[in-house]
Amino acid sequence: MYKISNLKENKEMSSLNKINYPAFSKHQVEVFIKRDDLIHPIISGNKWRKLKYNLKAAKEMGKTQILSFGGAYSNHIHALAYAGKINNLDAIGIIRGEPHYRNNFTLTWATHWGMTLEFVDRKTYKLRHNEEYLAQLQLQYPDAYIIPEGGSNHLALPGVGEVITELNEQLEYDYLLTPVGSGGTLAGLINADNNQHNLLGIAVLKQDGYLADEVNLLLAAQASNLDNWKILNQFHRGGYGKYKTADAQRILQFSQQTGIPFEPVYSGKMLLAFLDLLEQGYFQAGAKIVLLHTGGLQGLGGMAERGLLNADEWPVPERAPNC
Ligand SMILES: Cc1ncc(COP(=O)(O)O)c(C=O)c1O
Repeated sequence: MYKISNLKENKEMSSLNKINYPAFSKHQVEVFIKRDDLIHPIISGNKWRKLKYNLKAAKEMGKTQILSFGGAYSNHIHALAYAGKINNLDAIGIIRGEPHYRNNFTLTWATHWGMTLEFVDRKTYKLRHNEEYLAQLQLQYPDAYIIPEGGSNHLALPGVGEVITELNEQLEYDYLLTPVGSGGTLAGLINADNNQHNLLGIAVLKQDGYLADEVNLLLAAQASNLDNWKILNQFHRGGYGKYKTADAQRILQFSQQTGIPFEPVYSGKMLLAFLDLLEQGYFQAGAKIVLLHTGGLQGLGGMAERGLLNADEWPVPERAPNC
């Protein structure tokens, strides 16, 4: 079992727990997990961090709606729906795919919390960063504060940066690992870390380097001075959402031994990458390493529903009541 370390307790912060695991003592490293998945029961992990200042901005601008984009099983859409509900903002989700997805695990919850869903085909969805399309949406929804897919914009950075502020109070460490999807989380960490630690982003999808460009774009002017980070591209295990049975078994086995829940799309891929790097001798003896748990456990619901994993083995959350 993992132990709660005797680190500074602060209810405002997500907890930092030391993990005891045989491979860690074998390689003489100390490993900690920053439990951002526990920040909020629904708006978990990096969603909480990325939305925090976006929601504030929406309210300050007097907006009454929040609108964003996502796939039919999106963690971001799930979190945004609930964030809208508790912030008195009407949430609108522009969803890639056909309306029958409305009944899936993620979107049933989104509807339950009051989100309005608008389904668009793949061609239209591709326009989600296009200025003209966004201007047209803004005309259609004049009271909406528009947040990009995944919540990754410049206002996501200060929210994510608070992970670094908290960690600086919790522990002296050498490495921080995070999964990378769109790059917003890593960009926020880099920005706040200001070259203090080694930041390793684990790409969860196949790509040829565009993620580093995305991160640099979000960092804008500061990017050139900040060189303490890397995106590792060799741990995607076949692409976004893909993994082998053996990968899933390794994640489950780690969860069972440590008591920490993971899912195989983001946090689980980061975990496997970390275990592989450890075996390859990437970390020097004595290194203190922090894994950032970015949440996303709601995704297990949709995966179980599609028969992609066994609901008896994984911590699959409850379905929304039918509405
Ligand atoms: C649970 C979870 N972890 C990590 C990520 C990756 O974060 P980012 O898109 O900011 O790189 C995502 C996607 O946004 C996610 O849903």
